Amino acid sequence: MTKKSYPAILIVLVILLASTTSAFAQELKSIQLPGPRMTGGRPLMEVLKDRHSSREFSEQELPLPVLSDLLWAAFGINRPDVKKRTAPSAVNWQEIDIYVATAGGLFLYDAEAHALHQILSEDIREMTGPQAFVKDAPMNLVYVADYAKMGERSEDDKRFYSGADVGFIGQNVYLFCASEGLATVIRGRVDRTPLAEAMNLRPDQHIILAQTVGYPAE
Ligand SMILES: Cc1cc2nc3c(=O)[nH]c(=O)nc-3n(C[C@H](O)[C@H](O)[C@H](O)COP(=O)(O)O)c2cc1C
Repeated sequence: MTKKSYPAILIVLVILLASTTSAFAQELKSIQLPGPRMTGGRPLMEVLKDRHSSREFSEQELPLPVLSDLLWAAFGINRPDVKKRTAPSAVNWQEIDIYVATAGGLFLYDAEAHALHQILSEDIREMTGPQAFVKDAPMNLVYVADYAKMGERSEDDKRFYSGADVGFIGQNVYLFCASEGLATVIRGRVDRTPLAEAMNLRPDQHIILAQTVGYPAE
């Protein structure tokens, strides 16, 4: 190696270092959702008639206003004066968090701000379940119970109540999807340990169920 070649090597090293640093420093973003439309939708009895599980999805993404309405219907705040939600929760613990896995990364729904906060920039859709449609559907909701919000109850109680509370949220999503012509299926088939690791969950956060949402396959 001659002395003359040092500057070129240094330049390459500096470029490499700069690109690695910027990759690590990739910024996580928050998305302010548009206000949910609290009127409209199809009549409840028609929606109940149409509710069903689907396992064939188009890859088309949901427009932001539809995502906004969906998350509000799922577990948004419908009584801002008392900060209560569209689904009931035992003891009003409101212990269920909705994570949204998309091609653009993993987001956490913040009901109070009606916003999505990015947790990861990686696409972890495939990790939300072993069924083939999961990785290509535009969105997988992951319902996570925060046991830290459930007081001094036994593990059994916490498992029981968080399972029941997710059921109400999941049904809200089913009904919204039936009203909007979207396809959905709630899923217990989730490999919880690797998914919790990928999502950087705390030990007292427990994955309950996942729910795939998208437009029906043509
Ligand atoms: C708690 C729960 C877990 C479920 N887990 C899965 C699942 O892992 N994968 C799946 O494809 N469907 C799953 N389903 C959907 C059921 O298979 C579906 O609801 C059932 O076959 C009845 O069909 P319907 O929803 O169209 O009425 C689950 C449903 C519930 C309530």
